[in-house]
Amino acid sequence: MESSQRGKSLYERIGGEPAIERLLDHFYHRVTHDGEIGHYFTHVPIGKLKVMQREFFSMVTDGPVTYSGRPLAEVHHPLAISRREFQRFTEHLVATLEEAGIGEQDRSEIIAKINLYADEITNEDSFG
Ligand code: HEM
Repeated sequence: MESSQRGKSLYERIGGEPAIERLLDHFYHRVTHDGEIGHYFTHVPIGKLKVMQREFFSMVTDGPVTYSGRPLAEVHHPLAISRREFQRFTEHLVATLEEAGIGEQDRSEIIAKINLYADEITNEDSFG
């Protein structure tokens, strides 16, 4: 990491709110147009997707957002999302972060955090 970046939160390193909003726009464009998982989002109101974005935003960067929605398992288990689909989702996130020029170290940190939620999002156990 460059010395100028040391001690900063991930949120700051990525470029703060404007950078994260651009990043999330790209990410959701990818996810909603994906042949494998895009169908999940076809009938989801944009307001709900925005809630989802903000949730990501907070958990991924320790940014200034507090989640007050329903538990993630309660929202996602009825959708029966598989591990493979969850992985597809994170692949889009990696690609988006790469395109935004976010370094390997920060990318790994972000993906590790997202993976902590796999059990809450998917309906398969860890060997599924
Ligand atoms: C760590 C990963 C994820 C997080 C943090 C997350 C977070 C959220 C949040 C906060 C909401 C809104 C909850 C509400 O409306 O009360 C939501 C809704 C939704 N999520 Fe996710 N999500 C994740 C992964 C996924 C994946 C992998 C898919 C599908 C492939 C997915 C599909 C959906 C759909 C379809 C909705 C709308 C559900 C509805 O309106 O009933 N999510 N998500």
